[in-house]
Amino acid sequence: MRLQYLYLDELKEIPGLDFTEYDSSDPLEIHAFYYNDLRLYQESKLSTARFVKYKDEIVGYFTVSMNAIELDKLGKDEKVKGATPKKYPAMLIGRMGVDKKYRGRGIGSEILLFCRGLAIEASHEIACRYVILHTTEARAHFYRGSGFVKSGNPPRKGIVSMYARTV
Ligand SMILES: CC(C)(COP(=O)(O)OP(=O)(O)OC[C@H]1O[C@@H](n2cnc3c(N)ncnc32)[C@H](O)[C@@H]1OP(=O)(O)O)[C@@H](O)C(=O)NCCC(=O)NCCS
Repeated sequence: MRLQYLYLDELKEIPGLDFTEYDSSDPLEIHAFYYNDLRLYQESKLSTARFVKYKDEIVGYFTVSMNAIELDKLGKDEKVKGATPKKYPAMLIGRMGVDKKYRGRGIGSEILLFCRGLAIEASHEIACRYVILHTTEARAHFYRGSGFVKSGNPPRKGIVSMYARTV
């Protein structure tokens, strides 16, 4: 599938898309964030947004930022022998969404692959050992399919934290 990834300033305006669930709920605020917070987070460098273009349509978005994951949240074999840090550098996928009309075609999985590539690319300049994200149990299957595994101690009840290595 040929997807293109555009920066916020490449578009005149934020395209009208629908990131709600099939029952119109927005439990992880992917839709609300897109309309209310995208620009603020971008301009204040809290996260970088990319729009996802498929054929001639914008069909999704995601945001990423620098972050870190505590060693005790990772699997035992993730510890780097001989290294002292208690946290390892990670890129956080803060939000991601595919418009309702375009779900189930592999676009979300392609975005995850692109994000892992971004982290690998970035790590040539600024080390980045993991890609991390927070989701729900219901969505964990989607991320598992792209090689993410659950980490320990999620930030709150009902949230599942996951990671994938860049190396
Ligand atoms: C989650 C989301 C990004 C997936 O995008 P997508 O383009 O539909 O995903 P894909 O077509 O690549 O799906 C890949 C696999 O994940 C599964 N999957 C997709 N969305 C899922 C969901 N919401 N819950 C559980 N599994 C899901 C698919 O069934 C497919 O499984 P399979 O390989 O066993 O057939 C999209 O459904 C979405 O934007 N949802 C609303 C916003 C949201 O929940 N964002 C994620 C926040 S953590």
